[in-house]
Amino acid sequence: MSSENESNALAIVNCSQLVTVAGPARPRTGSEMRELGIIERGAISIRGSRIERVGTTNEIQSLIDNDCKIVDAGGRVVLPGFVDAHTHPVFAGTRAGEFEERSTGATYQEITARGGGIQSTVNKTRAATIDELVSAGRRYAGWFLRSGTTTVEAKSGYGLSLEDEIKLLRAIKQLDKHTALRYVPTFLGAHTIPKEYASRREAYISLIIDEMLPQVAREKLAEFADVFCEQNVFTNDESWKILSAARCHGLGLRMHADQLSLSGGAKLAAELGTITADHLEHTDAEGIAALKSASVQPVLLPGSVYALGSSRYPAAREMIDAGLAVVLATDFNPGSSPTPSMTMILSLAATHLKMTPAEAITAATINAAYSLNRGAELGSLEPGKTADVVIHDCEDYRELAYFFGVEHASRVFAAGELVFDRKSG
Ligand code: NIG
Ligand code: FE
Repeated sequence: MSSENESNALAIVNCSQLVTVAGPARPRTGSEMRELGIIERGAISIRGSRIERVGTTNEIQSLIDNDCKIVDAGGRVVLPGFVDAHTHPVFAGTRAGEFEERSTGATYQEITARGGGIQSTVNKTRAATIDELVSAGRRYAGWFLRSGTTTVEAKSGYGLSLEDEIKLLRAIKQLDKHTALRYVPTFLGAHTIPKEYASRREAYISLIIDEMLPQVAREKLAEFADVFCEQNVFTNDESWKILSAARCHGLGLRMHADQLSLSGGAKLAAELGTITADHLEHTDAEGIAALKSASVQPVLLPGSVYALGSSRYPAAREMIDAGLAVVLATDFNPGSSPTPSMTMILSLAATHLKMTPAEAITAATINAAYSLNRGAELGSLEPGKTADVVIHDCEDYRELAYFFGVEHASRVFAAGELVFDRKSG
């Protein structure tokens, strides 16, 4: 008998459904979003950090070596690890007090206008050391993993000074290195105008363009740049300037667009040719057509609509029908969306965005991976890809969205290693 250490081969067998999400090597659109490449009584073999084969349990069992460690999925569903393509996972403190105020009628914008909101998290985050931020971030990394998420896009944006934005991006690097969760870093110095620049916003924009972006690029601290383009936050012109400068530094572009109002954010994203436009709660038919013409991927964040107590969900059906490669993400952050749970998002997608469970899973795996330039490595269970594989405690993949408020992941493998086991915690 061999131990796991002697052989790096592993097979997960006896899956009621192996949801491979296999398909063309590009983001999925239209009816492709309903095709999950399910193998009934499926199995998967892994060598080291990579997927070796997928097939039926009978096929895989006949091919594995004697020294291969076997994991019996016990008739459960197995999926690729979720790829959460929009999160703000590094910050100090919480905003439970503001949450309570919203429960009695205050709005997110009112709280922001009197110096709360993002600025209140910025105050606490500036006062925190990098070690404190990493330690808070580790706790959230554990939450993501136990929901079955193995990769997150991670934004800075609660520092808003050169020093504090760099501190956040370095914290993200450390979390990537020292936790089992994979982080893809995004620079979001343009999250809001910090209070000390309230009366000289051009000076803050120059700070982003002349100092922050060059250092972020020089130290390779981010792969993407993002801007919160919104009324009373960054105007379309300012967003254009910042993202154009980011592009010159070789960063990929993402944008918070049309979240709280229709400000032409989707159209601007299309003109800039960003990789994603995120939120889009207020985007109209013209905006959707613009996204389509520029192949921008919409990243829909129903957790923030829900947690803000709004009923203005994005027009997901129209976007899918228009042929957009829709992505779903949590928007995990301390203000508008304090959830790391992708299965909660799958539930919201089915109930409020009228996406089928299959479309939602495609949006949370392969389409998300492509939006992070990781489509060739992550987001589906196909030979050669990274072995991010999750056993969920249900028999049918639709139960992931149907039974809500339950974390279904029972065993999570990231790059072939067991990183969460519900039995042992
Ligand atoms: O995506 N829209 C801007 N940023 C976040 C909110 C961040 C916060 O409130 O701290 C969002 O919803
Ligand atoms: Fe966000």
